[in-house]
Amino acid sequence: MKALVVYDSGFGNTKSIAEAIAAGLTSLQAKAIPVGQLRMEDVAVGDLLVIGSPINGWQPTQKTMETLANLSRRGLSGIMAAAFDTRVKLFIHGDAAKKIAKTLQEAGAILIAKPMPFYVKGTEGPLLDGETARATAWAEVLLAQARAQRTQRSA
Ligand SMILES: Cc1cc2nc3c(=O)[nH]c(=O)nc-3n(C[C@H](O)[C@H](O)[C@H](O)COP(=O)(O)O)c2cc1C
Repeated sequence: MKALVVYDSGFGNTKSIAEAIAAGLTSLQAKAIPVGQLRMEDVAVGDLLVIGSPINGWQPTQKTMETLANLSRRGLSGIMAAAFDTRVKLFIHGDAAKKIAKTLQEAGAILIAKPMPFYVKGTEGPLLDGETARATAWAEVLLAQARAQRTQRSA
């Protein structure tokens, strides 16, 4: 089992969260990679795939949606997955993580966590205090869930 954290990022905030998640998944030799660098053959059955995007106009970025479409065509059966987004703390903000999670699940992935939002202070950031630490802590939850899922499937 290995882990890939795939992200898009306009101003670096989602990248920082993706790197903090990868740091929490070090025992899976996790790498954080920009969405444009994902090759479909990098994702194998039994792997953990985490995808994150900023919310742009109530949804994931265009690049993220294009990659999700490619992943859907390929199919994600047997792959564990989780989704996150970064957003401004507004009363009405839309959603990216839920949309990513839904697409991953529809492509056959096993969702191992609820979609997770992380918060920036303004369009260009910075992240709210404590968000990178929260991302690493979330990764530890993902790790535990992924291990439990693997044990369950091999039982
Ligand atoms: C074109 C554009 C549209 C945006 N739309 C939303 C939105 O609908 N909801 C929201 O919460 N934040 C929105 N934002 C703020 C982004 O979520 C914020 O810029 C992002 O989290 C920063 O992450 P990044 O540095 O990785 O790009 C928008 C930002 C841009 C540039």
